[in-house]
Amino acid sequence: MGREFNELFDEWSHSYDETVTGHDPEYEEVFIDYDKILSTVAEKSTGTVLEFGVGTGNLTARLNNKGLNVFGIEPSEGMRAIAKQKLKNITILDGDFLEFPQIDAKIDTIVSTYAFHHLTDEEKDKAIRKYSNLLNEGGRILFADTVFPTEEAKQEKIRESLKRNFHRLAEDLQREYYTTIPVLQHIFDKYGFEVSFTRLNPFVWLMDAKKERRNDS
Ligand SMILES: C[S@@+](CC[C@H](N)C(=O)[O-])C[C@H]1O[C@@H](n2cnc3c(N)ncnc32)[C@H](O)[C@@H]1O
Repeated sequence: MGREFNELFDEWSHSYDETVTGHDPEYEEVFIDYDKILSTVAEKSTGTVLEFGVGTGNLTARLNNKGLNVFGIEPSEGMRAIAKQKLKNITILDGDFLEFPQIDAKIDTIVSTYAFHHLTDEEKDKAIRKYSNLLNEGGRILFADTVFPTEEAKQEKIRESLKRNFHRLAEDLQREYYTTIPVLQHIFDKYGFEVSFTRLNPFVWLMDAKKERRNDS
């Protein structure tokens, strides 16, 4: 489910840490304040944390340094190998946002950075529904990812990328499932979360969702 990007990430795994430090001009804006974004998510996390799409383990390391109990889920074998090499004491399992091994612990926080857009909107709905059953009242979802205020804002970014000859970025924005705040707001409302959206750079927003009531759908 949503694993159609595995090959791309296996290839990207070797140079991913160079991209996030701004070495790829096309992705420079996407990764502005990358360290600060990861630290914001880590600072707000508490207790036992389930992380999806760990990649090379940069957020995982921050969560671990904070002394949190972390379970990482990552579908790309290449990414998993790099994360495991960096973080020898952390459990990093093969899985994805929708299908992952059962975790025998009460989960307090579910986190992810730069990854939720790999699910279609229908899959995003399924995932949040699943997490609403996994979290107790007060449990939190903290996702930082590229999101657009409106569909028009997304189309404008695609046009702007093409104008700047950022063809890989424009293709990425068209190929993957970048969504809008109203779509996400609707999903979080439906499954009993109180959610806020905060812009962190020209592309990335923090979604901070707190479980308020039992899921009734
Ligand atoms: C752009 S990287 C982000 C890595 C890391 N979270 C970070 O912030 O640097 C996206 C990650 O999401 C993973 N991914 C892709 N599809 C996924 C899915 N359906 N479920 C979970 N992770 C997925 C990729 O394999 C990759 O490691």
